[in-house]
Amino acid sequence: MAEESVSPKAGSDVIVINRRSFMTALMAIGSALMGAVLAVPVLRYVLYPLYAKASGTEWSDVGDVKELSSSLTPVRKTITFKQRDGWREVVSAQSVYVHRQANGDLAVLSAICPHLGCSVSWQQAAGEFVCPCHGGRFEPNGTHVFGPPPRGMDHLPSRLNNGTLQVRFEYFRSNVPNQEKIS
Ligand code: FES
Repeated sequence: MAEESVSPKAGSDVIVINRRSFMTALMAIGSALMGAVLAVPVLRYVLYPLYAKASGTEWSDVGDVKELSSSLTPVRKTITFKQRDGWREVVSAQSVYVHRQANGDLAVLSAICPHLGCSVSWQQAAGEFVCPCHGGRFEPNGTHVFGPPPRGMDHLPSRLNNGTLQVRFEYFRSNVPNQEKIS
């Protein structure tokens, strides 16, 4: 009776092991690729607040240009705009002043005091803006006149759209000499 050869069996064992290794490696690579593809939207969601803008980026209506242009003194208006806070989108309201410049153009000033952030108000009798917190005072065009604020009132980007004055509200760093936008 012929004796069974061991070597071919041993050889086939080696091939089976190699196939298993290959299949295992293939499955591992496939799983890794699948994981990477699935991770992209998750990462985008998690990192979204980091690259989303915190300040309002949309234009808000301030009022009718003709009406605002007819005022000889600064006009206070409340505007609303959307803001991103982490994953939430919130609607914020802020006060602005519209001032008619010497050339007739309208400028929009933030009512947030550039010193420490109190709300500045227009004082008709004095003919200037006054901050109630530390007595900062400003001319009608926002130029700093007196007190601790290190700069004038902050000017906001504005535009005309079909007879309506619009503004894009922005926040600026407090208590620094130049208007530095906070993004
Ligand atoms: S916060 Fe306005 S003067 Fe200090």
